[in-house]
Formats: sequence, structure tokens, C-alpha cells
Amino acid sequence: MEKKTFYITTPIYYPSANLHIGHTYCTVNTDAMARYKRLTGYDTYFLTGADEHGQKIERKAAEKGVTPQEYVDDIVSGFHKLWELMDISNDGFVRTTDDYHIACVQKAFKKLYDKGDIYKSSYKGMYCTPCEAFWTETQLKESGGVCPDCGRPVEEVEEESYFLRVSKYAPRLIDYINEHPDFIQPASRAKEMLNNFLLPGLEDLCVSRSTFKWGVPVDFDDKHIIYVWFDAVLNYLSKLGYLSDNDELYRKYWPADVHFVGKEIMRFHTIIWPIILMALDVPLPKHVYGHGWLVLNGSKMSKSVGNVVDPVKLVERYGVDAVRYFLLSEFSFGSDGNFDNATLITRINSDLANDLGNLLSRTVAMIEKYFDGVIPPHDTPVPEQDDTIIPAASALADRIEESMNAFHINEAIGDIFKLVRLCNKYIDLTAPWLLAKDEANKARLGTVLYNLAECLRIIGVALQPFLTRTSPKIFAQLGITDEALMSFDSIHTFGLLPVGQKVVKGEALFPRIDMKKELEYLNSLMPAKEEAPKAEVKEEAPKAEEAPELPEMLPEIGYDDFSKLDLRLAKVVACEEVPKSKKLLKFTLDLGTEQRTVLSGIKKWFSPDQLVGKTVVVVANLAPKMMCGIESHGMILCASDAGDVNLSPLTVMSEMAAGLKVR
Ligand code: MSP
Repeated sequence: MEKKTFYITTPIYYPSANLHIGHTYCTVNTDAMARYKRLTGYDTYFLTGADEHGQKIERKAAEKGVTPQEYVDDIVSGFHKLWELMDISNDGFVRTTDDYHIACVQKAFKKLYDKGDIYKSSYKGMYCTPCEAFWTETQLKESGGVCPDCGRPVEEVEEESYFLRVSKYAPRLIDYINEHPDFIQPASRAKEMLNNFLLPGLEDLCVSRSTFKWGVPVDFDDKHIIYVWFDAVLNYLSKLGYLSDNDELYRKYWPADVHFVGKEIMRFHTIIWPIILMALDVPLPKHVYGHGWLVLNGSKMSKSVGNVVDPVKLVERYGVDAVRYFLLSEFSFGSDGNFDNATLITRINSDLANDLGNLLSRTVAMIEKYFDGVIPPHDTPVPEQDDTIIPAASALADRIEESMNAFHINEAIGDIFKLVRLCNKYIDLTAPWLLAKDEANKARLGTVLYNLAECLRIIGVALQPFLTRTSPKIFAQLGITDEALMSFDSIHTFGLLPVGQKVVKGEALFPRIDMKKELEYLNSLMPAKEEAPKAEVKEEAPKAEEAPELPEMLPEIGYDDFSKLDLRLAKVVACEEVPKSKKLLKFTLDLGTEQRTVLSGIKKWFSPDQLVGKTVVVVANLAPKMMCGIESHGMILCASDAGDVNLSPLTVMSEMAAGLKVR
């Protein structure tokens, strides 16, 4: 039987400067997905690359006094080094200056020209060079005349150009999106594409330029070069040999299973790209997933602004798995997330050094101490204790499968770490050091340690796509060399770890880091806060140095008054807009014992999908209140400044169960 295939891509990055942690975030998530698919038996092709044409590159090269090709060659060599450093397992790397790519783009352009889907006319309009994007008057009106994506000035350009008949295919695309609800993910982004772009009506797209030279020439009219986005999206096909003499990879892997792209380039991937494909009579990719941005102090990281975090410095200091772990687990993949140094150190110390590292070292040390380093038999179960870990360990593979298929990568790795924490609790519950005091408990002690070692094997297997260096270290300490015991299939069954195998104590997986010292170091690498353009924050926030206006303290209250408040942790299960309300979001909250509907007036600051999965603090015993015809039961606590410019719901620093009391 032929193997199932899986084709996954990152965007191809502009080599206009070195890549930063935001690009690394996308590539590491794509890598985890690709590795996961390989581990679960898919013949996987993972493509990344460099998008090397365009006016921006041409200008940068001229500033530096080198040719555009020299300029990109230098920066692209840095891409390769970064991906090697991050353990990125890409199968292909496409450069848009590669011959096969240029030939593919020219052939596709000609094919559409011959078909009448590309035609020549004259273009006058506004162009953002940093984003290489045209904008209509209506779009610019809403953004106040600057580029709606990056906030920088646009330039007027007028030229004779080729146009793609986008308008012809738009109705078909609208139907396609409606009939394939999982084509654009997360679902909120599909709505955004339909409501903001497709339904208001699309103009034909200018797909050539003649005012600069650095691009793929239109081979039948060499005054023109092909628009950089038309050129760029075709990378997903060109690397597979589409329209070439050898299109074996194309026939094997296309249509792509998923393109992972940042939210600001969804428009190109879910409108322009599908329309080019429809015009070429090529099937559409199965999914396009728009992930959120990593922001720094509320601002989008940007190479041109210079407020970026350098992944190389982080890996050099903390190791590749610590950085991969942070990028894969800390941020919900579909939403924006704030990159914060203190959280990075906390996660390394608490999750990796304490929870995972200690679990392994304690387990191996106890097997050495009590069983001469030999994995003991497990024939003395105590179900009320063992059932706190065995069912969770046996179900882990299915849970990961479910999360990964939904592209909820952070949830998959989160589930693995839940099992790690359960195992640590199991040690407290079973207290092996007490069992060891009485020879009569030896068999039970062996069972406890076996269960822990087997859970660690399962954790090691499950971590392979995420923490590339850590899994082999776990296997080595457990003495596992048999590849069958490292396979994903093997972790559906609990109890495969062979009894009698020798464990081998090794170094700590992750050394603990001194928070104060590291914060000083990391903060010294950080750029000043006020340099960056604002992302997501819709109004001007006060400058970092300005002290916010603080309200007066209220009169003192006694403990009795305070104790009347029942504050609880709640998990956001779902969140949606309240129709007709400009302010309200409707939350479904899990309070541990029940699910509640709570309305909160924070729509101005957050889109619903940014909040799902977060833990918030609620006033749980507040009397219910009707708002917009919906009963709201409770209040979500938020911090905000006097002008309501910045607002943040309160949350917790580590994973805590829903329903816990806040005191
Ligand atoms: N060259 C185009 C993509 C063409 S794909 C056919 C491009 N390049 S880019 O280098 O500007 O950005 C590439 C990707 O990096 C985008 O998906 C973008 O969202 C992502 N990121 C850039 N900064 C980011 C963050 N701060 N956070 C997360 N992703 C970010 O666009």
C-alpha cells in the first residue's frame, strides 16, 4: 500500500534582513507539524525558502552598494544557518532566484495570458513597497492613508501593466470557501477574508511592474517584471517541478495539506493564490492556517523598525530545545502572543528544569537506588493511585493526534506536559521513599517506579516532534535503544517498556537558570520600547516612560467585606461577538464545576479567538445581569489604564485548574 503523503509549507521569507524570533516561531511550528506527520507514518514534504525579488530588495542592495543577487545570497546563507541551529527538518528550500522557479513563474504567467486570464492595461494606484502590496482608495481611507498592514506611507505609481482577472474567479472562490469551512483556519480568519475583501467585491490585480528591474521578467514582454506576490506564491508549486520536465514531486504531493502563514499575508494565500490556482486548473491547497504574531511590548516585531529578538542569541544561551519549547507551547498558534523574557525564563525553569528534568532524574535515581538500576516488574497495582497516570498516558497519543490535526500545536505539547505534572503528583501520592523503608512494600515500590519509567518513555516518544534533543536523552537514560519503543504507535499501549532493562543516569536535561541574572542579560538585548509601530492596539498607547494616570485609592475595607467576594479561575472554553454590540464579547467559561456565560466589554481590545484557552479570573458570586438579551453570570477581572487605552484580563503564571479560588 502506498504511504499517505503530507505536504506542508512555511511562507518564503524576505531576505531584506536577518530573520528574527517571529519568523522562527512560524518555522518551528511548521517543523513540529512535519516531524509529527513523519512520526505518524506520512511520507512528508516540508518546504521553506526565500522570497528574493521586489523593489525593497533592489533598494536595500543599492544602499549597500552590491548587486541584488549578492545581497540576497549573503542573507539567505544566514537563513540556512538559522534553520540548522533550530533543528528544522525541511525537505526542500526554494529560492525565487533559482532557475526552475523562474521558468515555472514565466510559464504560469504565459499560460494565464494565453487563456485571457491575464491581460494588459494601465494601472494607477497606491503601493506599499515594504509590503509589496497595492491598496485601493477604500482600504486606505479606513487606515488613514497609510498601509493598512504596516502603517507606513504608500507611494503613488502609474504604469502600463498586466492584470489578473481576479473578478472572474471571485464568485467561485466565495462558494468554495463557504463549501469548505476548514479551508481557511482559524475560522475567524475565513470570516475576515469574506467580509473584508471578497464580499465587498474585488478589483482585478496588477501582476506586473515596469519601474524597477529586480524580478522575474515577463518572457514575451521584457519591459515588465512579474509582481513579486505572483512570483512568490508559485514557490509552492515550482519546487515540486510543476510545469517542468520532471513533475514527479508535484504529482506525488500536490495539493498541499497546509500552508502555515502569518495572519497579515492570509489575503495573498486565501484569495490571490487560490484564484491563480483556479485559473491554472490546479486543485487548491487543503488548508491555509493563519497564525498570530509574536509581539514585543504590544508592538509587531519588524526587521525594518529593528525591535526584534534574535533567536540565535537565545539558542546559544539556553539551547535549542528550550527555545523550541517556548515557541511551541507558550502561544496559542492562531492568536497573537507577547514575547516576554521573564515568561521565557519561568517556563524553562518550571516546566523543563523542574517538572520534566526532575521527573526523569528522580525516577532514574530511585531505580538505581532501590533496584540496582534495573527496571523492576510491575505486578502490584493499586488502581486508585495508578489510575491517576496510566489512563492519561494511554490516551496521550489520541489527544495529540486530535490537537495536531486541528493545528493546535501548543495544545498537543501542553498535553504532554500535563502528563509530566501528573507523574510528579503521582510521586507525591505514592511516596516511594516511604515504601522503600519496608521490604514488604518492595513489589509495590517496583510497580510505582515501572509506571513512572513507562510514562517517561511515552513522554519521550511524544516529545520527538517538538524537543528534538530531549527525547534521545530521555531514551538514553531509560536505556531504550529499540526503535520500536520510540515509535508513535507504541505509545497507544501502556506497559511495553521491558522489565529488566538497565537505566543509565545522565546529566540534568535542563539546568535551572538564575532569573535575576538572565533578565538583566536579556533586557540588555532588548530594543527601546517606543521605536515600533503599534500592532493590534487600535489607539495610541501612552509612551513607556510616561507614568500612567492612576485613580485614587478607595476607602479601606475589612476582611469581612473582602471575603464576600468569590474570585475563581476560569478557563475560556469559547468566545464570540455579541451581535449588535460594539463592546461586548460573550464568553463560555469553565469554572471547574460548571460552565457559565459571562459577557465582558473588551471587544475593542481582543478578537474572540485570542482569548479561547486562556485562564482568567472571575468574580463568581456576582448576581446575574441581562445585557443585550443575554444573561451574564459573573465578571472577568481586567486591568486597564485611565483612558482605557491598554487593557489586559488577569491571568496566572503557570497552568492552574479551572475553579480554583483566588485569594
Ligand atoms: N515574502 C512574504 C511571504 C511570501 S509567501 C509566498 C513575506 N515575508 S516576510 O519575511 O515578511 O514574512 C514571512 C512570515 O513571517 C509571515 O508569515 C509573517 O507573518 C511572519 N512573521 C514576521 N514577523 C512575525 C512575528 N513577529 N510573529 C510571527 N510571525 C511573523 O511576508
